[in-house]
Amino acid sequence: MSFSLPDLPYAYDALQPYMSKETLEYHHDKHHKAYVDNGNNLLKGSEFEGKSLEEIVKGSYGKNAGLFNNAGQHYNHLHFWKWMKPNGGGKLPGELEKKLVEDLGSVEKAKDDFIQGGVTQFGSGWSWLAVKDGKIVVMKTPNGESPLVHGATPILGVDVWEHSYYIDYRNRRPDYLKAFVENLVNWEYVAELYAAAR
Ligand SMILES: [Fe+2]
Repeated sequence: MSFSLPDLPYAYDALQPYMSKETLEYHHDKHHKAYVDNGNNLLKGSEFEGKSLEEIVKGSYGKNAGLFNNAGQHYNHLHFWKWMKPNGGGKLPGELEKKLVEDLGSVEKAKDDFIQGGVTQFGSGWSWLAVKDGKIVVMKTPNGESPLVHGATPILGVDVWEHSYYIDYRNRRPDYLKAFVENLVNWEYVAELYAAAR
């Protein structure tokens, strides 16, 4: 199986004013495309050819850095586009809300910890909500890593590489994270991944 770049699930200008058309053009058409192209080149002739994306990400971690970085970022970005939607944020599906209260104290606390994960991730990386041992936890990872390689299943992630926010927010990463949580998150998709991971 080779990697392929999916279309965005919405128009390039659909997330404005929180994420601009220009950001999505660069982020999707240049950055994600490069992960796909580089990943395919590195996959060719490797022991991972013919494996599923998740198997490639897990199998190449710590073994084949070039392939892992590109496959990991391909996996992360495939979900990232779906973790956002126009008019996102807002009310959470009931069961997900209940589980966040149970495991993290409150929805506000969960959102704050998730934002804080992104603020404190030094350099490039991601902040996450993930399911680990049956519980929802907050995690942060550098570069192309994800909870997948740390024994957990990601259900929400936010890209804190500068390419994701610098055009719109310059150095104000906390403002980008707040806008992501309050105005962009597709909580229905998060609930879907939670249900599948449970
Ligand atoms: Fe990115």
